[in-house]
Amino acid sequence: MERNRLYTESVYPTAPTEEPERQYYFIDRARKHLEEQKKEAGRPLTFCVTTFGCQMNARDSEKLSGILEQIGYVQELEEEKADFVIYNTCTVRENANLRVYGRLGQLGRAKKKNPHMMIALCGCMMQEAQVVEKLKKSYGFVDLIFGTHNIYKFAELLNTRMESGGMVIDIWQDTDKIVEDLPVERKYPFKSGVNIMFGCNNFCSYCIVPYVRGRERSREPEAILGEIRRLAADGVVEVMLLGQNVNSYGKTLERPVTFAALLREVEKIDGIERIRFMTSHPKDLSDELISVMGSSKKICRHLHLPVQSGSSRILEKMNRRYTKEQYLELVGKIRKAVPDISLTTDIIVGFPGETEEDFQETLDVVRKVRYDSAFTFIYSKRSGTPAAAMEDQVEPAVVKERFNRLLKEVQEIAAQTCAVHQGTVQTVLAESVNEHDPSLITGRLSNNLLVHFPGDSSMIGRLLPVELKECRGFYYLGERV
Ligand code: 5AD
Ligand code: SF4
Repeated sequence: MERNRLYTESVYPTAPTEEPERQYYFIDRARKHLEEQKKEAGRPLTFCVTTFGCQMNARDSEKLSGILEQIGYVQELEEEKADFVIYNTCTVRENANLRVYGRLGQLGRAKKKNPHMMIALCGCMMQEAQVVEKLKKSYGFVDLIFGTHNIYKFAELLNTRMESGGMVIDIWQDTDKIVEDLPVERKYPFKSGVNIMFGCNNFCSYCIVPYVRGRERSREPEAILGEIRRLAADGVVEVMLLGQNVNSYGKTLERPVTFAALLREVEKIDGIERIRFMTSHPKDLSDELISVMGSSKKICRHLHLPVQSGSSRILEKMNRRYTKEQYLELVGKIRKAVPDISLTTDIIVGFPGETEEDFQETLDVVRKVRYDSAFTFIYSKRSGTPAAAMEDQVEPAVVKERFNRLLKEVQEIAAQTCAVHQGTVQTVLAESVNEHDPSLITGRLSNNLLVHFPGDSSMIGRLLPVELKECRGFYYLGERV
C-alpha cells in the first residue's frame, strides 16, 4: 500500500498482528506512557476532540474519544486548555480547510505554554497530499497526522509518537479493511450513529469524497445488527445509520443484501424506537425502500435527499445520473407512500456553466418539492475533481446573488412547512437542556424539527408526547401533555 509515512510497524515484535487485538495492545502501552507523564505533570492529562464536517466524522470522533479515554486521558471541552487536541477534519469545501489552518495557528501558540501538549490531525483533509506538505513545512509543531483509512490505528500511532521524538505521519491511499470492535465513547447516551458502509463510488464531478474516503465498502449485516443490539441494551433508543450513499448498502458484499432488508432487521430490535439514516442518493432509492419506510413504525418521518441542482443539464455535468423529472417523480412516489414525510436536501449554487436559466430550474424544484429545510452551498472548486477543470466557472458575484435568492426562497417555504404542525401532539425525544433557558428541554420530532418545552434533565433520553403550541419559524415552543 502506497503511503506517506515516517513510521514503521516492525519495531513492535511482541504486538499481536490481528485487529482489533493489536490496537488494545497499544492502548495498554500508551496508558503506561501516559501514567508517567501524569506523574511528571502532577495532574490528570486532558483531551479535546474537535470535529469538522459531517455525521461520519462525528461518529469517527466518538471512536477517537473512546480510545483516548481508555488510554487514561480525561475529556476537556475547552480546546486550548487540553493537553491532547485532535482535529478531525473535513475537506468537502475550501473554507473547511481554511478554518483548520486558522485554528491551528492559535493552537501552536497554546502549545508553547504547555510542555505536555500534543496536537494531532486526522480525517478527510489529511488525505490530500498538498495539505500534508503544507503542514510539514509550516506547522512543524503538529505531533501526529493520519487519514481516514487508518483511523482504527489511532492507538498505535499515538503510542509511536509517545515513544519517538518527532512528527508521526501515516496516510494510506485506500483500504479494503473494516476493523470492528474498538472502544467508542458516545456523545449522547440515548442515541448513536452506526456506520453501515464506508467510502463512495459515485464520483459526482464536484466532489472530493471518493478521493479521500476511498471505494465503497459495506459492513456485514450481522456486525451492524450486533452493534445495534448492544447499543439498545445500553439504553440507546435512536440509531442513525451512516454512509455516503446508504441506498447502495450491501451491493458489494459477498452475500449481497439491500438497504431495505437491513432496515427490516433493525426494526425488529427491541429497545430501538427510532431509526434514521444518511445520506440517500436519489439514483439508488428503491421502491423496496419506499415501501419499507411506508410500513415502518420506527423509521423516522424524515428523508434527506440531496438534489444538488434542478437543471437536468447541470445534473448531467455533475454526473448525478438522474434528471429533474426523475427526481420530482421520485419525490411524488415517496410522498404518496409516506404522506407525512419531511424532505430535506443539499443544493449547490454556481456549478461551472450554471446559467440563470439553470438556476431558475433549481428554484422551480425548491417550489415544487417544498423542502422542510435545505443546506445550500456555494460551489467550491476542489482540485483533482473533474469539475475543477471545467470551463465557465461562474463569477463569484453572480453566484452570491443567486445564493441569496435561493436562501430566501428556501427559508420562506421552510417556515410555511414548519407551521403546519401547529396545535398537534407529537412524540418527542428529549435530547438536552436548552442552551439559553435551563427551564426548557429541547426535543426532536420524528420529522427532525426541534421543540423546546418546560421540563427537567430527568426527561433526557425519553420519548414524550408534547403539544406544539407556537411555531417560531424553524422550531416550536411546546408543552408536555
Ligand atoms: N462545493 C460545494 N458544495 C459541495 N458539496 C460537496 N462537494 C461540494 C463542492 N465542491 C455539498 C453537496 C453535498 C454536501 C455534503 O456538500 O451538496 O451533498
Ligand atoms: Fe464528511 Fe465528506 Fe467532509 Fe469527509 S469530506 S468530513 S466525508 S463531508
